[in-house]
Parts: sequence; C-alpha cells; structure tokens
Amino acid sequence: MDLYEYQAKELFLKHDVPTTPGEVCTTPEAAEAIATRIGKPVVVKAQVKVGGRGKAGGVKLAEDPAEAKARATDILGLDIKGHTVHRVLVAQASDISEEYYVSFMLDRANRCFLAMASVEGGVEIEEVAANNPDALAMIRVDALEGCTEAKAREIVAAAKFDAKIADQVVNVLMKLWTVLVKEDATLVEVNPLVLTPEGQILALDGKVTIDDNAAYRLESYEGMVDREGTDPIELRAKEFDLNYVKLTGDVGIIGNGAGLVMSTLDVVAYAGEEFGGMKPANFLDIGGGASATVMANGLDIVLNDPEVQAVFVNVFGGITSCDAVANGVIQALELLEKQGTPATKPIVCRIDGNNAIEGRRILTDANHPLIEIVDTMDDAARRVAELAAARKAGK
Ligand SMILES: Nc1ncnc2c1ncn2[C@@H]1O[C@H](COP(=O)(O)OP(=O)(O)OP(=O)(O)O)[C@@H](O)[C@H]1O
Ligand SMILES: [Mg+2]
Repeated sequence: MDLYEYQAKELFLKHDVPTTPGEVCTTPEAAEAIATRIGKPVVVKAQVKVGGRGKAGGVKLAEDPAEAKARATDILGLDIKGHTVHRVLVAQASDISEEYYVSFMLDRANRCFLAMASVEGGVEIEEVAANNPDALAMIRVDALEGCTEAKAREIVAAAKFDAKIADQVVNVLMKLWTVLVKEDATLVEVNPLVLTPEGQILALDGKVTIDDNAAYRLESYEGMVDREGTDPIELRAKEFDLNYVKLTGDVGIIGNGAGLVMSTLDVVAYAGEEFGGMKPANFLDIGGGASATVMANGLDIVLNDPEVQAVFVNVFGGITSCDAVANGVIQALELLEKQGTPATKPIVCRIDGNNAIEGRRILTDANHPLIEIVDTMDDAARRVAELAAARKAGK
C-alpha cells in the first residue's frame, strides 16, 4: 500500500525523522485555519499518490492564512495525472539552501535493500539517474545487518555529502531505516531532504510503501487504508478475503491458483484480439481448496463489475473438487436471484481435474440459461471473448 505524503510524515514524526509539522484538510477554510495555527508562511500541498505534484501546480507557498485559503482553493479539485486532489497538506514552509535525495527500497532481485542518495535532489531522481548517474549513490543494505551507523556513513560518503552535514544525514538515514523496519515498508523515500540556511536537515517530502503482507501485525495499517482512493470492487473483494485485482477489460476471470489465473489472463487477451480486443477485466484467484461459498463470493464480485460482459470460470480441481466449484457457481446464481439482482451475463465454465465429471454433470443438470460448459481452456477463452464482444456490441 502506498501512503500519502501526510501519512508518511506521520510515520517520520513517530520515529523522530526531522520534518516540518503540518495538518491535512479537505476545504480551503480548514487550510486557512491550519495556516493561522501555524502562524508562519506555509506550503499547501496536494495529497495524491503520484509524483511530480510540484510541476503540476500541486505545491504552492502561502505567506499568510488568506493566501493559504486561496492556494487551497486552486489545488483542491485539481487533476494531477488522473488523480483528483481531495486533500491538501498545509505545512510550515522552510527556507531551503540545498535539496537532496535519499531512499531505501526493497531490492528483490538481489535479495537485499538498496539505499540511494544524491546531493542533487528536488528534481525527479530518474532524471539524475539518466543524465548524471555518478551523482546518484547506490549502496546495498543487508536485510539482517540493516543500516548501521557504518553503513549510513558509507552512503553519505558515496553520495559526497558535505562533511558539515554528514552527521545529520547519517542520523536521518538511520531513522529512515527504523521507519522501514518498524513499519514493514518496502520503500521509504525523501525527495527533497533539505538543508535550511540555519544548517538544519529536514525531510520536506515523504513517500512510503507498506508491505501488505505485514498488515496483520501493523496496528496502524487499517487506519491508513484509503477507502475513497481504492477501487470499490477491490474493497469488497478484500472484505471477502479474495485475491482480486481490477484490470481494464470486458471478460471477468475466476480461477483457482495464481499460475492458472495468470495464464488465463494471457489466453483470454490472445483470444480476445480476434473479437475486437476483448481483454480480461480482473485477476481473481479463489485459491486451492476453495469452497462453494468462496466461488459464490467471487462470482458476485466479478458479475457486479459494470465493465464485465461475460465471465470465464477456469478451474482445475486439485484440492478443490470440481463438484464443489460447480455447486458454488449454481449457489452464486441463486443468491443473486434472491437478492433481486439476478445475473444477466453469460458464464463460460471450463472445469477439469478432481471430480470433473461430477462437476460438469451438476452444471449440465442445472440447465441455467447463462452457463456454458466448454472442455478446453483455449476454446473456452475464445467462446467467452466472443460472448463478451457480442454483448458489448448489443448494448
Ligand atoms: N515545507 C516546504 N517548504 C518550502 N518548500 C517546500 C516545502 N515542501 C516542498 N517544497 C518545495 O516544493 C518542491 C516540491 O515538493 P515535493 O517534493 O513535496 O512535491 P513533488 O514535486 O510532488 O515531489 P514528488 O514528485 O517527489 O512527489 C520541493 O522540491 C521544494 O522545493
Ligand atoms: Mg518530492
């Protein structure tokens, strides 16, 4: 889960990373009130989970509360790279002498963490990496050793920070490492880390990504989940504990096992080319050992996606036996009927493996007008793409 800047800064404060205090709000009046409380010039910052806010007009200085209100009016509602600004952070403005860059991120390929640092911060770090790679220090950090003082000194030296501020930057790096470890983050980035004219080092921006696999042990996790910003279907899927990812397409996908679902996405995208570019609308893995209830929940989620024109249920019975899957499909349709929202979209089922014959018999006997059984995965993918295209064209 990516955090908003204001949430990242709350974690910074919690772990003593020097940063500028501020408050988040949703109206210009509230921005004015915050600026009044701060009682000094402020910066009004769009809170969207995308970089380059400054360039897009989402970061503005304000000398006094009235100006803060005006800037908040400008920024709220702004569209930044497809993200609408619903919230602004009002923080004390700092005088800036220099802007730096520091980050830690999980380096999966090398099974360690990677520290990056540059004295040329403030601008997009990708630019520095492309135009002036020598200015970007990259140092591996062992996951078990962590960012010790010696490691932090190595990073500071590699990035050629001035000796006058070395101790402060070392301190910031070690605290940021604490944020990464204690908050189970896979990324902690500060751009810019600034030097004020008074010689103080401050994190003026913050980007943190939390490892969702650690959600269960993070007390603060639930409170940081962004309900408005998350796809509503994904939220419902999460309530059902389903492994669901929304994609853009017309064919709903349900399968068991991540590998099977991934290849189903490929097969459908390939087959869909023949039918005007039908694409998978989602990833949904109901897992091994999925019960009828789980199948029912899955179908409910996928059928409720307005984008979906047809659904492909692709199950290979292993631990899950196919009769349970078939019953799940039938139960889901009955449930939707009872709720007064009967399904209207065709469902193509390919079921194979453990107890497939019984599963197919259950589906055939149900004789449901929306269900079609197709024997092979390729044929089923073509059929579902064809049905989706036809239904879309008929709309
Ligand atoms: N509290 C502050 N006081 C003064 N200037 C600030 C403050 N916060 C940000 N700035 C200035 O605004 C610039 C952009 O801010 P910031 O990096 O937070 O947003 P951004 O451009 O969206 O960055 P990113 O792409 O990393 O999200 C900074 O480089 C800095 O010069
Ligand atoms: Mg920034």
